[in-house]
Amino acid sequence: MRAVAFDAYGTLFDVFSVQARAEEMFPGSGAAIAQGWRTRQIDYTRLRSMAGRYEPFSVVTEQALQATLADLDLSASPVDIKQLAHEYQSLTPYPEVREVLEALSAMGIPEVILTNGDRDLITPLLEDSGLDEFIDAVLSADHVRAFKVDPRVYQLAVDHFDIPPSEILLASANQWDAIGARWFGCSSAWVNRNGNAPEELGVEPSYVVNDLRGVVDLVRANFDPQ
Ligand code: LAC
Repeated sequence: MRAVAFDAYGTLFDVFSVQARAEEMFPGSGAAIAQGWRTRQIDYTRLRSMAGRYEPFSVVTEQALQATLADLDLSASPVDIKQLAHEYQSLTPYPEVREVLEALSAMGIPEVILTNGDRDLITPLLEDSGLDEFIDAVLSADHVRAFKVDPRVYQLAVDHFDIPPSEILLASANQWDAIGARWFGCSSAWVNRNGNAPEELGVEPSYVVNDLRGVVDLVRANFDPQ
């Protein structure tokens, strides 16, 4: 193991932190909005990728929100939609993120973010949280105009580090992403924050950890600095 690529949404940043603002704007529906929005956002990335109808993640995210509000029979103005979608630029990092990135950085591990997010979305998040100081590069699916689990997205990490995929660890709280990385040939750590059951897709993440601290332990045990 010689480098770590972190997924962003759900892994470093809590996508459900949008719930508080959603609840303020649509009392009683915050949880349903947060949940439906994320599910639809991921669905849309897959549909667009499969059909070759790429739009940036920021666009997909806003369209997923609009459809989710309609699905819940909530009437929202274009301004409401923009305002709530804007929350994606101030998602809360998980509490252990900083110490984990710092620890890996102190160990001399190259760290990147490998995300479906486009730069418009991800840059403000990194800058506001001050996490950018530990991250060597943001590798965005936008570069190849396809979303995970398209192999071209994981290839971005291989091209960046210029090492074989098996020497790269992808850490993701999205089990399907940890599986996608394995299909591609990387090793992966699934950060199973919610104790979810394993999917049946014929391959498993290489490792399962409870939160990102588990990634530090993994790297400590497997890091090859040469
Ligand atoms: C990402 C999504 C998949 O950051 O969480 O790529």
